[in-house]
Parts: sequence; structure tokens; C-alpha cells
Amino acid sequence: MPKIGNIQLPDFPLLLAPMEDVSDPPFRALCKEQGADVVFTEFISSEGLIRDAAKSVMKLDIYEKERPVGIQIFGAVLESMLRSVEIVEASGPDIIDINFGCPVKKVVSKGAGAGILKDVDLMVSLTEAMVKHTKLPVTVKTRLGWDHDSIKIMEVAERLQDVGCQAISIHGRTRAQMYKGNADWAPIAEVKNNPRMHIPVFGNGDVDTPEKAMEMRDKYGLDGAMIGRASIGYPWFFKEVKHYFKTGEHLPPPSMLERVEAAKRHLQMAIDWKGEKLGVFETRRHYTNYFKGIPNFKEYRMKMVTSDDSASVFEAFDEVMQVFADYEFV
Ligand SMILES: Cc1cc2nc3c(=O)[nH]c(=O)nc-3n(C[C@H](O)[C@H](O)[C@H](O)COP(=O)(O)O)c2cc1C
Repeated sequence: MPKIGNIQLPDFPLLLAPMEDVSDPPFRALCKEQGADVVFTEFISSEGLIRDAAKSVMKLDIYEKERPVGIQIFGAVLESMLRSVEIVEASGPDIIDINFGCPVKKVVSKGAGAGILKDVDLMVSLTEAMVKHTKLPVTVKTRLGWDHDSIKIMEVAERLQDVGCQAISIHGRTRAQMYKGNADWAPIAEVKNNPRMHIPVFGNGDVDTPEKAMEMRDKYGLDGAMIGRASIGYPWFFKEVKHYFKTGEHLPPPSMLERVEAAKRHLQMAIDWKGEKLGVFETRRHYTNYFKGIPNFKEYRMKMVTSDDSASVFEAFDEVMQVFADYEFV
């Protein structure tokens, strides 16, 4: 069974992927309750942390109930990354994860995120310095390579392991692919099957059914699955995968009551954590999935995603519960 440093994980753990504006404490709590074995914060800018920018610092909030939890940081400047390690450590996470995979221009143009895939030496030296600077396990999340013609994931994985990286999560796309096409898990499996590799290799990209998670485990032999988009507005995904692994059967989808209760708790936790305005605004993206597939739902969805006050959103949840109480999800 895989371990990250001294953290013992179950067989084929399910990891909640770091997702900007999604993987916040309320959402992580819901995913944890539904079976996520490790959760990660969204990426946090090392430059923002050292400037003490309020938005970055707030992202360091973690809670006992979500352990083991990793805080993910990104950056490309050694001093800033080392100083951020100290700041992150003070929040008491179980893992420090480095983002070497973010494809967006504003990150890549500074040589951070996936931008560093163009400079593997820097990627390795930054990781080594960070490993030496903390007692916490340092892990890396990355992509297959910069583009199709420069895939060096085997070299990257070996070298990161050699400098003390404790686990690697690989998104089966290149930076050039952004989110297009299908994730390719074959190169991730090659890394896993390299006899030199002994740290856990987690697969990431397009795991959106229990069958795909099983394929990642049984056909590709990876050590665990990191799950992103399939969990947005659907934290039950973790439980469904685990049930399928155990029984070979699909759990029935969550009932309307479970969905309404989850949406309410999500919103309430978000308000408690970041205040009414941001809580209402930033939880909106989850509702479409919470209530996916319900016919004639537009009126209620609109109310949920356009209301500026939480009372109206809670009211919409109650109306949904009344109007669609007997709706059966398939
Ligand atoms: C809304 C959103 C935000 C994301 N933010 C981050 C991030 O902060 N750090 C990171 O490493 N990856 C981030 N990602 C990438 C995901 O962690 C993951 O690698 C990608 O979505 C592929 O996995 P999936 O197919 O299971 O979603 C983000 C993805 C999405 C959809």
C-alpha cells in the first residue's frame, strides 16, 4: 500500500485534485466525508505568500477533519519558494505539493507551473532545495511534458525521486494540450513500471466513472487516482468509486434530499469560511452538477446562480426539495 513519506494510505487511494477556486475547505470537507483519501488545496502563489497577500494567505486554511491534506504552491524563484515553504509549514499541512503542471499563460509565462517543463534542471533543483528545507514530505504534480515532441516524464520522475520527492501525480496531457483531447495514461504507466521508481505514482486526467478508476488501477497499474472535474458538484464520486471497487456494482445516485443537503452545507460552510458575498458567489459553480439532468430546472438554477444573498439561494434549495421531491436521478 502506498505511502507518502510516513503517511500510510489505503490500497489505491483516491486523491482530490487541487483546483483553483474549487478545492477550498468546504469542498474538501464534503469530498473527505465521501471518501477522498488525500485532499489538496488549490495552488497558492509563492510570490503572493511572501508578499502576505490576503487572498493567498487565506488559502492556507486547513482543518483537522480533512487530514491528510497537502498545500500546493507554485513559483519559479528559489528564494520565494523556500520562504513559502516556511510559511506553508506554519499552517501545519501533512504534505507540501509543488505545482509543475498549470498550463495557464499568466503562470507559464513566469516560468512557473507547466512552464518549468522547459527547464527540467531548474525543476529538479527547486524541488531538491525545497525537500532539504522542510521535514514535511514534498510531492510534485505535473504533466507529461511541454508538448508532444518534448515528453520527458520518465527523466523528470526519476530525477525528482532522486532528490527526495515523495510522490508524483501525473496529468496525462502535455501543456500544449491544455484540457483538449483525451488524457494518455500509458506514459504514466511506463513511469510506474520503471523498476527504478519506488515512490507512489498517481494518475490524473479524465477519471470520471468508477470503471475508469478501475482501469487506472488494474490495466495501468498506477498507485492511485487523482480526481478533479468529476468531483465538482459531485463529491459522491469518491464513494461511488470505492463501492464499485468493493462490489463491482454501481451505487444508486444520491437522492434529491442528499443533494439539497449537500448544497446547503456547502453554501453554509463557504459563508462561514469566507463571508456571505464570496461564499454565495464562489459556490455557484457547483450547483449545475449537484442538480444535473433535472428537467425544467432552469428557473431554480437561475435563482441559485444569480442571487446575491444567501437567503434567496437557501430558499431556492427548499423550493427544489418541494417541487422535485420525487424526482429519480439515473
Ligand atoms: C477549475 C480547475 C482548476 C484547477 N486548478 C488547479 C490547481 O490549482 N492546481 C493544479 O495542480 N491543477 C489544477 N487543475 C488541474 C486539475 O488538478 C487536474 O489536473 C485536471 O483537471 C485533470 O484532472 P480531471 O480530468 O480529473 O479533472 C485545475 C483544473 C480545473 C478544472
